[in-house]
Amino acid sequence: MRTTPPVRVSVVGGGSIGVGWAIVFARAAFDVKLYDPDPERLEAAPRELRARLDDLARFGLLRDAPGEVAARVGSTGDLATAVEGAAYVQECAPEDLELKRALLATLDDLAPRDAAVASSSSAIPISESAGELALRERFLVAHPGNPPYLLPVVELVPAPFTRADVVFRAAELLERAGMSVVQLRKEIDGFVFNRLQSAVLREAYRLVRDGVATVDDVDRVVRDGVGRRWAVIGPFETADLNTRGGIAAHAARLGPAYARMGAERGEDDPFAPQLVARVAAERRELLPLERWEERVAWRDRMLMQQERARGDADDPVRAADRVEITSLLHRYCRMLDRMDLDVVPQLFVDDCLVVYGPDERMQSRGAARLAAALRRLWRFARTSHHLSNVEIEFEGEEAARGISYVMAWHQHPDGRTQTLFAQYHDRFVRTSDGWRIAERRQYTNGSDVPWDLPLAESERLPEPA
Ligand SMILES: NC(=O)c1ccc[n+]([C@@H]2O[C@H](COP(=O)([O-])OP(=O)(O)OC[C@H]3O[C@@H](n4cnc5c(N)ncnc54)[C@H](O)[C@@H]3O)[C@@H](O)[C@H]2O)c1
Repeated sequence: MRTTPPVRVSVVGGGSIGVGWAIVFARAAFDVKLYDPDPERLEAAPRELRARLDDLARFGLLRDAPGEVAARVGSTGDLATAVEGAAYVQECAPEDLELKRALLATLDDLAPRDAAVASSSSAIPISESAGELALRERFLVAHPGNPPYLLPVVELVPAPFTRADVVFRAAELLERAGMSVVQLRKEIDGFVFNRLQSAVLREAYRLVRDGVATVDDVDRVVRDGVGRRWAVIGPFETADLNTRGGIAAHAARLGPAYARMGAERGEDDPFAPQLVARVAAERRELLPLERWEERVAWRDRMLMQQERARGDADDPVRAADRVEITSLLHRYCRMLDRMDLDVVPQLFVDDCLVVYGPDERMQSRGAARLAAALRRLWRFARTSHHLSNVEIEFEGEEAARGISYVMAWHQHPDGRTQTLFAQYHDRFVRTSDGWRIAERRQYTNGSDVPWDLPLAESERLPEPA
């Protein structure tokens, strides 16, 4: 029986994206050569690749054994060797126009004449980086998300000079590698991925600048809100499914408000009736209105699936551990408000380490010292600590790490009040008496509490009556 040889691809640049692409191609059983001019990267890349493959296997996301997949990737410090016999070259060098121009020119000389050469560039159109080359018609951009082995989308952005069959072959090869290929109709700075990302990030900066929300607030609105839906459907489908009657009804209802928000930011009005009609027509081709309810129910089931994956809800032991750890954190906040320091040993292990900020010297080791440090809070007339958003990740059966957010309100004896935010990065361990905090790193905004320990005897504040 004759077997076809594996597709030969070359990955040029072995940083984050290069290693990511190597995984995508090797996972699809391609024969991959990875090139990097930096000997240190060349040594580190196979290690990183193997670690990522082991993780993918642990999550059941790899069909073949990690060792087998890794063996499909060879690395070399010689560019000519890397591109020899390649059907497709994926350039992944730093985002620097002059560097890309020089590298693509070398690739034009070295790569087989019929090989397609794709640049991973996040924002540089291929017209700019390869416009002067002899065989420029075989160049295009193939821009991935990061990491490409988990975000399957790839934007193919040909220049007007790129040959149609080159684009077609590149799309086919990338689809065989499991990617979701989007081909842009014309070149534009930042392509679609970064245009969308930058639109959101620009508004996020403005909201923080204008004092509307904190950095964490904005991230939470995306992480716990809009982003969860965007993990399942895009912005057009979101609008389409949010309003009975679809996106045309959505534009009629919310378009004026959205346009007003845009005008406030100096943007022109994209809710022109003709454009809305065109978008609505495309949506109706993708989803006839009579199937709207069915799709809404599907969206909700996808969100439920996501929710289950997030919370290990199908594992009752883990769910119980989560509840216990969250309750531990709530008890800590209650303890601060009541200044009931006898509870410290029930919350922390005896030799706990607590670091109060970025400076490692601001730390206390041991539950007894921690209680002494916390005694300083008695300088406040009243405090109120509110815990929100606890994220817990388990490390085996007996340990876990967590990040939690606490909003603290302090009233000073002179009546002055102060609100601050803390992030606790905790390590929890399971003891014979349940979960305890073994290590805490605390990051606080705007605190004027002098946490620099140890606490001198003379500094001790009188205990409240
Ligand atoms: N990081 C991202 O989120 C992301 C996402 C999509 C696309 N990209 C694009 O992918 C490309 C690579 O980004 P990255 O994040 O992997 O960068 P990186 O800095 O992690 O890796 C770049 C690698 O290129 C190597 N290199 C330096 N000069 C080279 C040369 N002349 N020839 C070949 N290799 C060379 C470096 O040694 C390094 O290993 C950039 O164009 C970037 O815009 C990045």
